[in-house]
Amino acid sequence: METKIDEIAPDIFRLSTHIDQIAPPAGFTFNQFLVRDEAPFMFHTGLRSLFPLVSEAIAQLIDPTELRWVSFAHVEADECGALNQMLALAPDAQVVHGELACMVSLNDLADRPPRPFAPDEVLDLGSHRLRFLPTPHVPHNWESGLWFDETSQTLFAGDLFTHLGDGPAVTEESLVPEAMAAEAIFRATSGGPDLAPTLDRLADLEPATLALMHGSSFSGAGGPELRKLAAAYASADAEPRPGSPS
Ligand SMILES: [Fe+2]
Ligand SMILES: [Fe+2]
Repeated sequence: METKIDEIAPDIFRLSTHIDQIAPPAGFTFNQFLVRDEAPFMFHTGLRSLFPLVSEAIAQLIDPTELRWVSFAHVEADECGALNQMLALAPDAQVVHGELACMVSLNDLADRPPRPFAPDEVLDLGSHRLRFLPTPHVPHNWESGLWFDETSQTLFAGDLFTHLGDGPAVTEESLVPEAMAAEAIFRATSGGPDLAPTLDRLADLEPATLALMHGSSFSGAGGPELRKLAAAYASADAEPRPGSPS
């Protein structure tokens, strides 16, 4: 197993580890994103078991002890399992997340107090300015939240567009078909009333890059891509789920 490094936008690096035993034969990638700036920012820590690989990859890009901010979309092992290992590695690193995530989980889970962010509050890294976007229940988990880098128009999209395989680091092809194929397998998305309006709100940012936690990142018109995803969920919702009473 190896962790590959690719620059997907200026000073935004994708660290990607493909595990072929998960969802074989295509396998599944776990991606973290490092924003290299005066105050380096990490989105996702990865699983605890992947931390040796991930920390080695970080060390190829920055001095890991200078990492300043650690965030992730929601509380799951692949998103933040290595959280406290990362805090131990970098003495000035602090978890930053929404007020809700801090209150519900992170005040207790993180070895140092997290920094709670309000909706639309901006984190200034030096060159990059990241806006915090609460996305409760989208695609899952009450405390979910994402970040939009206003400098490079990159949306750190977490589990949105999750798809299988070990494709290119960045693609300009639509990821909606692959995302809906993975959704049919995993059923990971909470299809509640927050889904469509949240995807619309993210689309209105018109991101130029979608940095995805599982699979290739997308480069191109991110707004239409997010609207296509919302439409695909809406038509999938019209079909009964496997096991539903008919
Ligand atoms: Fe998740
Ligand atoms: Fe995930």
